[in-house]
Amino acid sequence: MVDLLSHGLSDDGGFEQSLFSRIAEDLLAQGYCIRPAALPEAMTQSLCAHLHSMDEARYTRAGIGRAGDYLKNRFVRTDEICWINGESSAGQQWLAWAARLQTFLNRRLFLGLFSFESHFAHYAPGDYYKRHYDAFRGQANRVLSIVVYLNSGWLPTDGGELVLYRDDEDRSGVRVVPLMGTVVVFLSEEFPHEVLPAQRDRHSIAGWFRVNATTPDRLDPPR
Ligand code: OGA
Ligand code: MN
Repeated sequence: MVDLLSHGLSDDGGFEQSLFSRIAEDLLAQGYCIRPAALPEAMTQSLCAHLHSMDEARYTRAGIGRAGDYLKNRFVRTDEICWINGESSAGQQWLAWAARLQTFLNRRLFLGLFSFESHFAHYAPGDYYKRHYDAFRGQANRVLSIVVYLNSGWLPTDGGELVLYRDDEDRSGVRVVPLMGTVVVFLSEEFPHEVLPAQRDRHSIAGWFRVNATTPDRLDPPR
């Protein structure tokens, strides 16, 4: 019998390990993974409670890249974001969970993931994020993207699907309904994707695992 606690696992370590294994298997087989109702229930509840208690003023208009021009940004995406830095206990639980996933994927797939950044995103009715990549080939920064959804009772008529395209030529893609607890993970450089306009408020967390791209004249991540 394996001693789970000595491996640094949480109480539901068995479920967590099987989820992480499925993610690793799917990434290996197809480069992406879509798992409905996969985020641990207790963490999902505290993330939801936290985001609904947060002051709207803590969200800011999302940009593209690290700096950019306002009109171009507004053409590409209209959502608002709030970076997760571990101030709240919900945020801490999320970051700890992501860190365990990072460790697991590094061991299983030798990805060399080094850091993680993530934010809450709020899409008001009509908001969108046009087709884009999270990273560009050769820039060796964002390696793996993760998105989780925090919306209860999402209906097909509510719109707001994530559409994940297999490559530049793919026009139909795979549609993901942004329903509570769904976890999506994909290779950042491989899959263009977009968020279709929704009819109601849409809440998600988007995060990125990065490799360490520090060079003698550039610190990574930038400070
Ligand atoms: C992103 C993104 C997808 C989503 O923030 O880069 O693609 O479904 N989000 O919220
Ligand atoms: Mn994206």
